[in-house]
Amino acid sequence: MSNPSLLILPGDGIGQEVMAEVRRVIDWFGAKRDIHFDVSEDLVGGAAYDKHGTPLHDDTMAKAQEVDAVLLGAVGGPAYDDLDFSVKPERGLLRLRKEMDLFANLRPAQCFDALADFSSLKKELVAGLDIMIVRELTSGVYFGEPRGIHMEDNMRVGINTQRYTEAEIERGARAAFDMAMKRSKKLCSMEKANVMESGILWRDVVTEVHADYPEVELSHMYADNGAMQLVRAPKQFDVIYTDNLFGDILSDCAAMLTGSLGMLPSASLGAPMANGRPKAMYEPVHGSAPDITGQGKANPIACILSFAMALRYSFDQGDEAARIEAAIEKVLADGVRTGDLLGDEDTVGVSTSGMTDAILAALDASL
Ligand code: NAD
Ligand code: IPM
Ligand code: MN
Repeated sequence: MSNPSLLILPGDGIGQEVMAEVRRVIDWFGAKRDIHFDVSEDLVGGAAYDKHGTPLHDDTMAKAQEVDAVLLGAVGGPAYDDLDFSVKPERGLLRLRKEMDLFANLRPAQCFDALADFSSLKKELVAGLDIMIVRELTSGVYFGEPRGIHMEDNMRVGINTQRYTEAEIERGARAAFDMAMKRSKKLCSMEKANVMESGILWRDVVTEVHADYPEVELSHMYADNGAMQLVRAPKQFDVIYTDNLFGDILSDCAAMLTGSLGMLPSASLGAPMANGRPKAMYEPVHGSAPDITGQGKANPIACILSFAMALRYSFDQGDEAARIEAAIEKVLADGVRTGDLLGDEDTVGVSTSGMTDAILAALDASL
C-alpha cells in the first residue's frame, strides 16, 4: 500500500519557519516509528502571489483536493497589504477552505500545566482548561452575497452579508455534537439570536439536531456573553459551536487563555473522501507574525500540534498524536520556552529550532 499523501503549504512569514520544524517531526516518525508520508510542498499566500500573481495557483488547488491531508503554515504580511483584495494572501487560504468544503473547524484550547502561570488570567481559572471550539468555516459573513464596496448617494458603502442555510448550520452542528459525544457530552452553541435572524435560525436548527443526541447537555448563549464568560470562567465550557466570524474571534480569545497564540492548533474537516478519510487541512491558529519573522523566535508548537491533529483525525493514529502532545507537555514542564512563553522575569528563551530539538529529544525518550 502506498503511503498517505501530505501537501505542505508553508505560506508566508513564520509559516515557513514553523513548517520547517514540522518537517523534522514528520521525518522523526519515518525514522523512529516507521510511519511514512508522501510529502509534497507548494506555495500559498504571498509566496504564491510573488511567483504566479495569484495567492493560490489552480494546480495547487487541484493537488489539495487530491491529497489525504493539507498542512498549512500561515499567510499574509505587510508586503502584501496594499494588493488588490482579490489577490491578497488571505484569499488563497479562504479559497482552500471553501473549495475543499472544510465546514468544521476544530480549534482546541488546552492549558498545559506548566503554562498556567503564564496565562493572562489567574492560574486557578485556567489550570486544567480543555475546551474545543467548533467553528463553521465555509459560510456566514465571510462568504455571503451581496458583498463589496459600492457608491450610494456619492458615498462609499461597504457590504458583507451574514447568510446561513439550515443545511450549513446542521452539518456543523452534527460535527459539534459528535465531538461532544467523544468528550464530556456538553455543548454550548453561541450566536446572537437577540439581534440577527441568522442567529434565530442557528438556535432553532441546533435545537432540532439535539433530538438526535439526547445524551448531550445543550445550552445556548449570546456570543458577546460567550466572550465575557470565556475570560470570566472558561472552565464552564467543553465544546462550543459557533459561526465563522464569532468563531474566529472567540478562538483567538481562547488562545490567549492558554498562554500564547503560538500554542493553538486547528483542524478543518469536510465530508469523507472515497477512502473514508475526511477532506482535511491542518493549520496553526496564528498568522504570519511579521513582527518576529526571520528572527528564529517563532514558537513551532501550534504547527507541530496541528500535525498531531492530522495524525488523529486523518490517519487514525491517536496514540501517536498523544505521544507528540505528551512530549510537548514534558518539554514545557522542563521549562523550555520560546520568547512568547517568557514572562518579564525570565530572560533567556530557546529559538524555534531549539524548541523542536527539545521536542524531538522528548519523543526519543518516549520510545
Ligand atoms: P498573528 O497571529 O500573525 O500575530 C499576532 C501576535 O502573536 C504577534 O505579536 C505575533 O508575533 C504573535 N505570534 C503569533 N504566532 C506566534 C508564534 N507561533 N510564536 C510566537 N509569537 C507568535 O496575527 P496578525 O499580526 O494580526 O496578522 C499578521 C498577518 O497574518 C496578517 O496578514 C493576517 O491576515 C495573517 N493571518 C493569517 C492567518 C492564517 O494564515 N491562518 C491567521 C491569522 C492572521
Ligand atoms: C484564522 C485567520 C483567517 C480567518 C484569515 C487569515 C483569513 O484569522 O484562520 O483565524 O479570518 O479565518
Ligand atoms: Mn483568526
